Order: sequence, then C-alpha cells, then structure tokens
Amino acid sequence: MSNWTEVDSYLNRTVVQPDAALLAAVDNTRNAGMPAIEVTAGQGKFLMLLARIHQAKRVLEIGTLGGFSTTWLARGLPESGTIDTCEYEPAHAEVARRNLEVAGVGHKVTVHVGAALETLPTLEGPYDLFFIDADKANNPNYLEWAVKLSRPGSVIVLDNVVRGGSVLDENGDEDIQGTRRALELLGSHPRLDATALQTVGSKDWDGFAVAIVN
Ligand SMILES: C[S@@+](CC[C@H](N)C(=O)[O-])C[C@H]1O[C@@H](n2cnc3c(N)ncnc32)[C@H](O)[C@@H]1O
Repeated sequence: MSNWTEVDSYLNRTVVQPDAALLAAVDNTRNAGMPAIEVTAGQGKFLMLLARIHQAKRVLEIGTLGGFSTTWLARGLPESGTIDTCEYEPAHAEVARRNLEVAGVGHKVTVHVGAALETLPTLEGPYDLFFIDADKANNPNYLEWAVKLSRPGSVIVLDNVVRGGSVLDENGDEDIQGTRRALELLGSHPRLDATALQTVGSKDWDGFAVAIVN
C-alpha cells in the first residue's frame, strides 16, 4: 500500500466518511466484475460539495459505471433535483440502478443506456453541473455538448486529465489525445473559464479540470 493510499484511508475515516450504501456500491461494482475506475470517496464528496455550493438542481453525468459518483452527486441536490447519467454498458447501468436504489437516490436519477454521443442530442438543457468521466477519446465532443446544454454559470468537471503524467505524451493513445484536445479546448474556448489540478491518492497520480460557462 502506498503512502498516498494510506493517507486517503485516513482522510476517508476522519473527514469524508462515506456511509454503508456508498461502500456497498463499490463492493457491488467489484463483485459484478466491473473495473475499479470510479472516483475516490474524497473526489465523490468533492462533487457532492460542488453541487451543494453551486445549488445545482439539474446534473448531467457522462460515464456512470456502478453509480458511485452519481450517488455522491445526487446527495448534493435538493429533493427535487435530478441527474441524467449516460452509460454505454447495459450491465453497468443495471448495477448502477440497483446501487442508486439502495442509496435512496434512485428517484432522482435517469440512467440512459447507450453511447453518450447518441443520448446527448436527445437531452434538453440547461444543466447546472456536468461531470464528464467516460471514454476519454470523446472528451472534446463531450465538452462541446456540455457547453451546448449549459447556461451562463454552469459548471463542468472533467476527470482524469493527468493520467499519471502521460498527458504530456504528444503521441499518446486515443485517450491521451482526447484528453489533450479537451484541455486545449478548455484553455481556448471563448465561453469557458477553466483550471486543471493534479491529484494523488488511492487512484495514484491523476487530476481533474473545472470550468465555468461564461
Ligand atoms: C470511469 S467509468 C465512470 C465512473 C463513475 N463516474 C464513477 O466515478 O463512479 C467510465 C464509464 O463510462 C462508460 N462509457 C465508456 N464509453 C462510453 C460511451 N461512449 N458512452 C457512455 N458511456 C461510456 C464505461 O462503460 C464506464 O462505465
């Protein structure tokens, strides 16, 4: 176990304190044979706090997996708040729906099954908050869709933008290329004001970007 993981465990115990439903969501996701690529508890709670600070009522998430980040986001919304979340794999969507019900937030969430680029044109904005965390090759497309479905003041969070430093690789794979083009778009888009931060922890070295729509 690295020190980063030990520190994450300590922070989870002392500050973040994910409850039994959230811990079960991760266990169920693993037991279903799905990959360990959900956000950490600390990052999930950051999303929840962001939703609360922003007083978000409508959230759009791209990349559901087992619904771990979805649950955190849902807990940051008022009772009338809603989340549309896009998931390509039917089996992932099934596990997510079960986890969301167990966590008591199923009534707030619609899980859309299919390629996000096919779902997004069917959705109606504006959303207050976006969390983009699916196939990284499509990040520039997802970013453009988020802007299209936003309002002035909407917040966009883009995950996994550092990728253990491989974001520096100009000739990297399609995920790295997608991440790099998304970061360039964040830095140059006339309607976006953005930053990107590096993180370390139980998911090693990575980072996320946050933008506001002008
Ligand atoms: C990193 S995981 C999402 C983790 C989740 N946000 C969390 O933190 O709990 C990415 C998910 O995106 C899904 N995905 C991949 N390509 C997709 C696409 N084209 N459209 C929608 N979902 C996709 C994958 O099946 C996977 O479940």
